[in-house]
Amino acid sequence: MPIETTASVVAEVPADAELLAVPYNPDLRPGFDLHLHVPVSDLLAHYDSKGEAGEIVEVPVARGGGVGRVLLYGVGDGSPRALRKSASALTRRVKGRDGLVVVLPEGDAAVFAEAALLAAYTFRIGAPGKRPVRELTFVTPDEQPVRRAQRVAEAVALARDLANMPSSTKNPAWLAERAAEQGVPVRVWDEEQLQAAGFGGILAVGQGSANPPRLIQLSYTPDEPTDRHVVLVGKGITFDSGGLSLKPTENMKTQKTDMAGGAVVIAVLGALAELGAPVRVTGLVAAAENMPSGTAQRPSDVITHYGGRTVEVLNTDAEGRLVLADALAYADAELHPDAVVDIATLTGAISVALGRNIGAVYASDDALAGQLVEAGRDSDDRLWRMPLIDDYAPALESQVADLSNVEAGSTYGAGSITAALFLREFAGKRPWAHLDIAGVGRSTVDEGTLSKGATGFGVRVLLDWLTRR
Ligand code: BES
Ligand code: MN
Ligand code: ZN
Repeated sequence: MPIETTASVVAEVPADAELLAVPYNPDLRPGFDLHLHVPVSDLLAHYDSKGEAGEIVEVPVARGGGVGRVLLYGVGDGSPRALRKSASALTRRVKGRDGLVVVLPEGDAAVFAEAALLAAYTFRIGAPGKRPVRELTFVTPDEQPVRRAQRVAEAVALARDLANMPSSTKNPAWLAERAAEQGVPVRVWDEEQLQAAGFGGILAVGQGSANPPRLIQLSYTPDEPTDRHVVLVGKGITFDSGGLSLKPTENMKTQKTDMAGGAVVIAVLGALAELGAPVRVTGLVAAAENMPSGTAQRPSDVITHYGGRTVEVLNTDAEGRLVLADALAYADAELHPDAVVDIATLTGAISVALGRNIGAVYASDDALAGQLVEAGRDSDDRLWRMPLIDDYAPALESQVADLSNVEAGSTYGAGSITAALFLREFAGKRPWAHLDIAGVGRSTVDEGTLSKGATGFGVRVLLDWLTRR
């Protein structure tokens, strides 16, 4: 299921390019002859084009005895934001075509190429008419950063593919198989091994389903040995019906993407194997299907997490924090990381707070929060830091267990914050950050670098953070 558009990076414009895109504005001229019959500046004036990002002027040209086409594309002020807009307009314009040769703009050509590829992403099972451009050829004097951008875009596409896959195919065991294809060592706990090791949260969430849960561990070790170790933890709910605290249909129909965080962890580990990073990285995906049935957990059940902490489950739809708690406690007790970052489509409340364009980061450590926000800004997976408000911690007190998984009453609200406070209890004393991507994990629009459905949000920020800082 890889990205449908194949891409290559070359140094020179291929002689037979039928469809060629070239950056142009009044101050910016291509370094070679386009064989146009009218001067470019006259053409742009004719079409009233100022070379703004998103503007494209299409010109027929003589090419190899036939007719070719040149797309003059604007890049606006050349900022990353303008380049992303320009690139996505370009690949969207050539939807369904066989190939496009893109002369990359000067400046951040990698940003442009990444956005062009992301905008070409589609997920389809059938639907023959809705094909993106078949082949993109990027022309640039500096191939290496563009190749890296291509690998990053492929990782985002993999995360989208995994999350877009219907849950009839995508159960926890299937997710473990996909993890095993990433070129890094993988360890998988099946339900018996989860039982033996005491992963009570993952088991409780999965116990209502005919598809048993899994804990998936992926390990990246850099070529140059290092003591630095980061653990990434992803929520891997392959379908969230809510369990016995059943969701209404309207809310349920989006919940095949409730493993989007886990998909990001799998895709990031796969990309690290090729991109390399100066730090050891362990990925954990806590995978389960949350279903109602005669074997499902009940509201008011008390479960025991990895490490022995007990939790009263007052709402079986607050299941993400239960599977994550096990993985966080395991990471703290067994993996000795220098930092732990979890990523999860955790709460509907975060999309009320931050909407669909900006993800939430909570952190116990200011430096870690700062690095992630910065990586988010540079990579275009934008994050906003949210507060861990200690005054709200009593929301999670339970009469019968160490904690409850949701507030029993409605004194505190703040659904995304209280969820983060719950996770903090299991992360130990290490620098820890939590990304709530419930708002940004899916897109409702086909626009820019996004397509309807899974976004792969988190891949770019985590790869930026791990490989560039
Ligand atoms: N998977 C959902 C969160 C979600 C909602 C993701 C919408 C994407 C879109 C999560 O498991 C959930 O059900 N959260 C509940 C928590 C509540 C029961 C405390 C929620 O947000 O309503
Ligand atoms: Mn839920
Ligand atoms: Zn969920």
